[in-house]
Amino acid sequence: MADPAQALWSELESLETPSLSALFEGQDRLARYCSELEIPGGPIRFDWSKTHLTPAVEDVLGRIAGAMDLDGKRDALFAGEAINNTEGRAAQHSAERGIGAPTAVVEAEALHARMKGLVEAIHEGLLGEVKSLIHIGIGGSALGPALAIDALARDEAKVAIHVVSNIDGCALEAAMKQCDPATTMVAVASKTFTTTETMTNANSALDWLRQGGVSDPYGRVVALTASPDKAVEWGVDETRVLPFSETVGGRYSLWSSIGFPVALALGWDAFAEFLDGAAAIDTHFIEAPYDANVVVRAAFADLYYTQAKGRQTRAVFAYDERLALLPDYLQQLEMESNGKRVTAQGEPLTRPSAPITWGGVGTDAQHAVFQLLHQGTHLIPVDFLAVKVPGHDLDPLHHQILLSNCFAQGAALMAGKASDDGARAYPGNRPSATILCDDLTPGTLGALIAFHEHRTFVSAMLLGINPFDQFGVELGKAIAKQIDAGGGEGFDPSTEALLAAAGIGA
Ligand code: F6P
Repeated sequence: MADPAQALWSELESLETPSLSALFEGQDRLARYCSELEIPGGPIRFDWSKTHLTPAVEDVLGRIAGAMDLDGKRDALFAGEAINNTEGRAAQHSAERGIGAPTAVVEAEALHARMKGLVEAIHEGLLGEVKSLIHIGIGGSALGPALAIDALARDEAKVAIHVVSNIDGCALEAAMKQCDPATTMVAVASKTFTTTETMTNANSALDWLRQGGVSDPYGRVVALTASPDKAVEWGVDETRVLPFSETVGGRYSLWSSIGFPVALALGWDAFAEFLDGAAAIDTHFIEAPYDANVVVRAAFADLYYTQAKGRQTRAVFAYDERLALLPDYLQQLEMESNGKRVTAQGEPLTRPSAPITWGGVGTDAQHAVFQLLHQGTHLIPVDFLAVKVPGHDLDPLHHQILLSNCFAQGAALMAGKASDDGARAYPGNRPSATILCDDLTPGTLGALIAFHEHRTFVSAMLLGINPFDQFGVELGKAIAKQIDAGGGEGFDPSTEALLAAAGIGA
């Protein structure tokens, strides 16, 4: 089937946009492209004024949204329709935050009540003394908990959380060295409860508990999964299995029982605020008209750069040490969701799909990769994320320098600097967006993540792809399993030689 928006994409490509500096001349760009949203936990400012968005660009993208039925797809998402068509499922992560089909919301509330009960029982000491939790999971079952714990539980965790994902034993060993088996619980987080890395690490954690003198190691395990039967079969007591719905995708699952370590570290009230912050973005995404909708605006800018300007990457820099893991989290969210080569109907995609998402932490990244952002030949749209209230008690000068550097980079990218010496000239006209939270709280973190989920969704809908499957991860897993089962032959000569050199396979 031909792309219903093909002519409109061509129209977008042919639009001439003035330079960023020219766009600011005589126009109040902040009034149109900078919005502050009230979020439980504090306001967040979304400043997209230093991008090439104009009413003309938005008009074409708005018509593409119409042609691709963005409103209908958004309504279908929140109504719990099977929007993940290739797997025949709904995508009901927003129901975990209380926004969605009533049956899914009621089910999520019941499962949260069960999770709250277990969290509070542990806090009250009903399961013995628990000082640490080793959280074992990978991908969507690990990146979210790791981000939220690192962002919010640096100082005052009720239970110390160690997130372990890699199959490399160095990762689990490092966590074990910091824990005492007598006071440690293990969370096995896996939607499918079959993932090789997670199950191998979980078995090694059981051995460690056993060797540490724990007579009933399964008694120390909590399972976070959409496959509760498999968890029980593996040995977890049914009372410590915290299920979540099959319709919650792995990279969208932090709101479900996958968020158990977050609630355990911070307490239930904080976890509830985290959900409320995300729900505020759900409501904004549903209700705000396109020209005042921060989610749609961000996705429109993303699409303008990838589709009309051929930009292949998007960089995210967190100017806050507590958000250091956000670029990694967004990499999975955006690249696993929208890194597709066919439409939802299986037709070849005739346009670029997701840009490559990458990034780092400011100011560190300034001294490493910003040279290319300012003077390289690639044009890379940048997102800056910063927080007004510092996360430390040191001299306020630290935070002032951090924020002034953040804002200076956006200004420099846009303005550039002329010089007769080519090596010292900055072309400028390079776009950036800035998200500034008043404070980093459970609510604002929840909102930041939900904002990116829906931003990814909008891009997918305008491109006509399904953001909720990930078949591209399967082939490599299947080959690794074949090798582990002793089938190290029949590959290309390079792979066979590598296997032989490492002493693996046949
Ligand atoms: O291999 C990719 C993937 O399926 C991700 O989508 C998922 O988040 C991760 O693996 C872990 O899967 P599970 O939660 O089932 O262990």
